[in-house]
Amino acid sequence: MAVNFDEAVVHLEKRGFLDVNIDPTLDLFAEIERLKKEKNAVILAHYYQEADIQDIADYIGDSLGLAQEAEKTDADIIVFAGVHFMAETAKILNPEKKVLLPDLKAGCSLSDSCPPSVFKKFKDEHPDHIVISYINCSAGIKALSDIICTSSNAKLIVDSLPKEQKIIFAPDKNLGGYINKESGRDMLLWNGTCMVHEIFSLEKITKLKMRHPEAKLIAHPECEEAVLKIADFVGSTTQLLKYTQTSDATTFIVATETGILHQMQQASPGKTFIAAPPDNACACNDCPHMKLNTLEKLYLCLKYELPEITMDEDLRMAAKKPIDRMLQMSKELGL
Ligand code: 13P
Ligand code: SF4
Repeated sequence: MAVNFDEAVVHLEKRGFLDVNIDPTLDLFAEIERLKKEKNAVILAHYYQEADIQDIADYIGDSLGLAQEAEKTDADIIVFAGVHFMAETAKILNPEKKVLLPDLKAGCSLSDSCPPSVFKKFKDEHPDHIVISYINCSAGIKALSDIICTSSNAKLIVDSLPKEQKIIFAPDKNLGGYINKESGRDMLLWNGTCMVHEIFSLEKITKLKMRHPEAKLIAHPECEEAVLKIADFVGSTTQLLKYTQTSDATTFIVATETGILHQMQQASPGKTFIAAPPDNACACNDCPHMKLNTLEKLYLCLKYELPEITMDEDLRMAAKKPIDRMLQMSKELGL
């Protein structure tokens, strides 16, 4: 239920977003554009955001692209249309800037699967290992890591380390397992998964492939091994998007969150994109966290500059080191 601004602020912590009455006749696109200019704000959006948010964003990308963009922006305010760990990464890189997230409750099942206190014990049991963490983790996990990676650079980063280097990979066991296989490594894997990418039905995908023998199956490496095994191409969201643009194929079965289909369709209007079917009754493979952000919440957060990401300075400094290392390595690897 909509309330006035003062009440909304009181409820903000519990609800995660500002719920203030918006004039239904307001052109939200125009208002957001106006506020962006007035406040020197930039909107960074992940491909999994709803189409309206992607359309109003200044930059749309995967986790690596978004981190790189956050590092170089000269805006005073960053509105992060994504999930909490992404906005947190932007704040870690930009302590002096205001970083806003339209809904603070936009979390991540993968990040939640790796609590820092439990992970610290695991790490302490393996003192001869270095820790590479997928960016989909909390600042607490980043602070316990040596290098951060994303699905765009994980394999190249792992490959750049000496073969004998012992590695713990956290928190995604599917991405870690995929890299182990591709790189001939034996990294110790944390047992975390993404609720969106582990839901695909191998049986339904196989049937779909039989109905569309000309289609290429493309999958995000957070998918389970059985899906990755039959995929024609595996890559981050940006890599999947590029593949659909450069491939000669005209039909694609896409095994990742459905938000990416918006950019795929815009980039290749003549091609057909079929969302890979999940193993659930509602046939829905939207990320419930990503989809908590709406155009209305984005407008309100830009207008009132709330909710804001804040962080303890010691934690920020500790979490920044492995992110800086990733950004530097990515530069050296030409990413
Ligand atoms: P990328 O942005 O690296 O493709 O990862 C997808 C994802 O799950 C983000 O939460
Ligand atoms: Fe986390 Fe998966 Fe949602 Fe990405 S898609 S934010 S990994 S739950």
